[in-house]
Amino acid sequence: MPTSLRLHRRSAAVATSVALAVSFLLPTSAALASPIGDLEDTQASPSSDPTPSPGDAGHERKSKVASQEKDFAAYSLDPASPLVLVNEHHPLRPRDYTPKKLVAVNGSGARMVPQAATALEKLIAAARRDGHGLIVESAYRSYDHQVGLFRRYTNMYGEDYASKISARPGTSEHQLGLSADIGVASGQCSLRACLAELPAGKWTAAHAAEFGFIIRYPKDQQETTGYNFEPWHLRYVGTTAARKMRAQDVATFEEYSDQLVQAREAHREGTARKQAEAKRQAAVQDALREAAAEREARLAEETRWMPEWARSAAAR
Ligand code: DAL
Ligand code: ZN
Repeated sequence: MPTSLRLHRRSAAVATSVALAVSFLLPTSAALASPIGDLEDTQASPSSDPTPSPGDAGHERKSKVASQEKDFAAYSLDPASPLVLVNEHHPLRPRDYTPKKLVAVNGSGARMVPQAATALEKLIAAARRDGHGLIVESAYRSYDHQVGLFRRYTNMYGEDYASKISARPGTSEHQLGLSADIGVASGQCSLRACLAELPAGKWTAAHAAEFGFIIRYPKDQQETTGYNFEPWHLRYVGTTAARKMRAQDVATFEEYSDQLVQAREAHREGTARKQAEAKRQAAVQDALREAAAEREARLAEETRWMPEWARSAAAR
């Protein structure tokens, strides 16, 4: 077969592979969804966010995205993370976990991890300014403490009921140093549902999120949380998560954790799609380069016999 024909055939093959690669590329890039778009749909910003001025739109979008990414990246099984989910089905790992650092919550003997203690002090101070005297009934509890507590409730009420009001050892948020049971100084409605009806209980429910706390075991959510209503049990999750839960009406931390896991998965899939897309584009570029090289080689072959002036005219 003459060289030129062989070259034509190869060029045709290269052109076909370029066309194939390009056809691969086009629909995929058109369908490529932004993982950040997915996130914004599932995690709208809290309604309490200040309204951005038109000029701030880009900046606002970037900082929203950053906070969302920070939020779902922070979701973890690490008991030191304020976003860790602990319940009957998600025990602490290890079960006898102890936080690295615990500090006293000012004005009480109770201890929490520093971030949560500071936030609770701020919440109590704000409640006081609004005329509500809150006290801390209990905060960090060790594994051994919870063993004794659960045994006591079991002896008093039987294991079935005990498990609705008290966590089994190794499954209590109190062991994280992120939770606190609050009450009022008079002791009225102490660790009872009627705390929610007292002005101090109402204030707490209305303002907890501003300080990064949630009422962890809300009313009528036993199916999801596993526990009866505990308007006294505050869990620190950070202000971003607490405000989002409130703004989006997410009743339980179980549901919020699910959202974080899904958002993280969507982000991972988005990243994988982007990488595959970049790979496809690189393959197209390679094929285009190869086609150009083939064309040059073919021209050189076909015009080898021509004088120099005619050869450069043919190349044009
Ligand atoms: N009362 C809550 C569920 C605990 O014991 O951790
Ligand atoms: Zn509690």
